[in-house]
Amino acid sequence: MFSAQFAVSPADGPIAVTGASGYIGSWIVQDCMEQGYEVRACVRDKNNPDKVEHLLDLNYDGMRGSVSLYEADLFKPGSYDEAFKGCAAVIHAGATVGFNKETPQEVYDGCFKENAHVIESVKRSGSVKRFVFTSSFAAVSHPRPEGYVFTEKDWCGDNIEAYKGRWSEEQIPENRDIAYAMAKANSEKLIYAEAEADGSFEALAILPLHVVGPLIAPNHDQPWSWQNHIKGMMLGKAYRGGREGRMLWNAADVRDVARAHRLSIETTIGTNGSRYIMAAPDRSGEMYTWQLQALLESMYPMVDEIGGEPMEEDMPVKATYDAPRAYCLLAMQELGLEPFDIETTIRDTVDSYYSLGIIGADG
Ligand SMILES: NC(=O)c1ccc[n+]([C@@H]2O[C@H](COP(=O)([O-])OP(=O)(O)OC[C@H]3O[C@@H](n4cnc5c(N)ncnc54)[C@H](OP(=O)(O)O)[C@@H]3O)[C@@H](O)[C@H]2O)c1
Repeated sequence: MFSAQFAVSPADGPIAVTGASGYIGSWIVQDCMEQGYEVRACVRDKNNPDKVEHLLDLNYDGMRGSVSLYEADLFKPGSYDEAFKGCAAVIHAGATVGFNKETPQEVYDGCFKENAHVIESVKRSGSVKRFVFTSSFAAVSHPRPEGYVFTEKDWCGDNIEAYKGRWSEEQIPENRDIAYAMAKANSEKLIYAEAEADGSFEALAILPLHVVGPLIAPNHDQPWSWQNHIKGMMLGKAYRGGREGRMLWNAADVRDVARAHRLSIETTIGTNGSRYIMAAPDRSGEMYTWQLQALLESMYPMVDEIGGEPMEEDMPVKATYDAPRAYCLLAMQELGLEPFDIETTIRDTVDSYYSLGIIGADG
């Protein structure tokens, strides 16, 4: 088959989305429904209103597509069979990312080992033409000099000598970041090889960097997520991530990340093994913590104190290591993505915290 013959449209039948209750997964469901897809949303517990009510609310009059709930768990082999049966495409955004105090080994298993079951369910479906996996920029990033611009040709594990012995499978139980990066890279390699060997479907991946943008439901305010850190800054707390708060924020809007997944099931250009970094479209979307803080201050002058990194006389106390630089240019070129500008993304993130009542109108 040519790549175009794998391309999916709503006329090809239902599609399944795993991790559908999550921050990115929920936006994928909404975006696909807006384009007219019949979406099977895979969740672990369909009776947990905090995680599913916002999805069912999307079935309003006038919505072009529809959503129905299916229960499945990455740690239960075969549990995706029912949801995937008869589907034209699967978007796999579900993962054990470590927000819920999982051990590094559980993160590795939930992000890699258990994906073998998901692929087995894809193969058993007899109908899936496209499988799109939510990988991560972690599968790309590795030690490089300041200012180095990463592209889709980069893989974590490149330049292995610079890891100074830390890059090994033995590190998985000890180090969540290595467990996560290795899991995402190994999953990508697995799915491309499985799709190639099977021949009936293509596998593509989306590799997001710092995902921010509006929350659809309060449950999307996961502790340690990037959006949660922005909330903390709005509440006047110093940013504690990166190196003592110093970090280059390289932001991708959650709505663009979702759209890139849908465009990857539809593309006639992308093919098996295509991977798309979702980061800023240009340097305007890359900001040091102090620049993000200044942007928030200019947007919300009524808020008394907005947190950031240590400053002295309006200048950062220490310089920030200039990384990671990367852009979503391939997604723009091959998928036709038109990303949000950074001001809209940041404003919509914070405004969603206000409108969901997670932070009060007085800040
Ligand atoms: N947010 C970012 O900045 C970012 C950056 C790079 C990559 N990613 C990737 O994007 C994907 C989605 O992340 P997110 O930010 O949207 O996180 P999230 O809001 O925590 O969503 C994660 C989803 O995975 C599901 N899940 C967790 N454990 C599961 C299991 N054992 N079986 C089935 N489903 C399970 C959760 O479903 P339940 O409803 O059942 O809890 C939830 O819907 C992940 O693969 C993550 O690695 C995110």
